[in-house]
Amino acid sequence: MLWLKALHVIAVVCWFAGLFYLPRLFVYHAQTEDTAGRERFKIMERKLYRGIMWPSLIMTVIFGVTMLGLNPHYYLTQGWMHAKLALAGLLIVYHLFCGHYLKALQQDRNLKSHVFFRVFNELPVLALIAIVILVIVRPF
Ligand code: HEM
Repeated sequence: MLWLKALHVIAVVCWFAGLFYLPRLFVYHAQTEDTAGRERFKIMERKLYRGIMWPSLIMTVIFGVTMLGLNPHYYLTQGWMHAKLALAGLLIVYHLFCGHYLKALQQDRNLKSHVFFRVFNELPVLALIAIVILVIVRPF
């Protein structure tokens, strides 16, 4: 169980590295006028999303669900786990929105401003703070 938890937290850290960095790249990409600069951001964004964020999301869920499956009667009756799974679900929706904006930027048809992406970039921080408090403090 401890190996699963360790691998789960490692996958979470890798996923969050992408959840924090990709929208930051969107901010700079949306501000960039020159073609060479835009093409460089497209490569960085694509590699981060496909090469790091998707594998680490999948590993986070596989190790998390495996641990949950080892003691479902306990975890699925806990308020803190219900709230955590709801926030994890929202993070997966956020991840898919990143994919949507990535595609628009790849095809040079993005309509969102750098200001929008600056606000968008802050949302995962709120989820991270809430989830870590829920899973360690277990307030309810
Ligand atoms: C589908 C998504 C997820 C599932 C099913 C899941 C499930 C679990 C389970 C069953 C545990 C073991 C709890 C225990 O110590 O008894 C755990 C631990 C943990 N999870 Fe998740 N998790 C998910 C996503 C996340 C996310 C998005 C974060 C982001 C911060 C996260 C952070 C943690 C941490 C820090 C621990 C270790 C807690 C401790 O050592 O007490 N998990 N998770």
